[in-house]
Amino acid sequence: MPRSIGILTAGGDSPGLNAAIRAVGKAAQRAYGMHVIGFYDGFLGLMQNRFVRFDSDSLSGILTRGGTVLGTSRAKVDKMEMGDGRRMDMRPLMRDVVDQHDLEALVVLGGDGTMRNALKLEEVGIKVLALPKTIDNDVSGTDVTFGFDTAMGIATEAIDRLHSTAHSHHRIILAEVMGHDVGWLALGAGLAGGADVILIPEIPYDIEAIASSIQTRKAAGSAFSIIAAAEGAYSREDNKARAALRAEVETADDDRKPDLKARLSALDKAPRTENLADALEEATGLESRVTILGHVQRGGTPSPADRLLATRLGTATASYIADGVHGVLVAARGETTEAVPLKEIAGVTKFVPLDHPWIDSARSLGIVLGD
Ligand code: F6P
Repeated sequence: MPRSIGILTAGGDSPGLNAAIRAVGKAAQRAYGMHVIGFYDGFLGLMQNRFVRFDSDSLSGILTRGGTVLGTSRAKVDKMEMGDGRRMDMRPLMRDVVDQHDLEALVVLGGDGTMRNALKLEEVGIKVLALPKTIDNDVSGTDVTFGFDTAMGIATEAIDRLHSTAHSHHRIILAEVMGHDVGWLALGAGLAGGADVILIPEIPYDIEAIASSIQTRKAAGSAFSIIAAAEGAYSREDNKARAALRAEVETADDDRKPDLKARLSALDKAPRTENLADALEEATGLESRVTILGHVQRGGTPSPADRLLATRLGTATASYIADGVHGVLVAARGETTEAVPLKEIAGVTKFVPLDHPWIDSARSLGIVLGD
């Protein structure tokens, strides 16, 4: 009996997913004679047993395509939304589907949330190998995730383009960059795009310090500034307020919790970048504008670096499966790959370390990091 494997993509889409599907699938078929099936829409499609059988033809022509040919969802394996307010542990059903197809392994392509789901599937006896994809680059245990390089390229180009218009109008322009709770994308694109100020979640910012740096630039003859602001960056005050509310939620009685959670959610949903733009306009007298880069950063064809990363991690995954390895993240380590136990990395967010060389470079160049 030929061996069979399954593949699915979960979480937000990311450039390089199709390159990885192709690499895992083709290597499994060609090098190891395995059968390959893909499940649609992440863990939801696995539970519903919605799948496609891949032959080598159906894996051709997808290397350069953005998004994921399998579709994706943010469904959680042990807390799946039932549409009526209930959340249920659907892992037994998924286990049945895996048994029905006699899958030797399930390959899941995802970010930090997917790593947690992957570990939870291992706990019910499904053999899982995970690949790190996300534009946020926040998966621990790997040097880098695929999707990050492409998104950084798009955000950098946007910052490049904002320079000329900011310069012409003597304005402050804030480019809001994705990245969820981490600052890799804003820091990388901000540095590559020559931003004057870079704001990341790891360094809560002081509005007065930013305003004063802009005024200093203005006095020196540069009456425009570019700010790369991570979507998850908060001012010092907001950060303190969030920490206090979070601590209160932990200890509050059940009847106070909804109110505290609503206040926390209002803080999180506030248009921070727009509010910062208004505050800087008032403090500096310079007009300000906000450009939210949004999902454009996740769309379109992957960069060569992401195609290469997805391809080498994908082909390595097939050989790990052939060797019986599972319960791991197939991670990039320098030029090689490493199978890192999911137990070590699931639920561990990779923040930008404050002594990272990109931070050092930014500081050496006089780029303001908001502190
Ligand atoms: O995780 C990738 C990401 O693009 C984050 O940077 C962003 O915060 C989030 O997904 C947006 O999610 P959605 O596409 O569900 O709005």
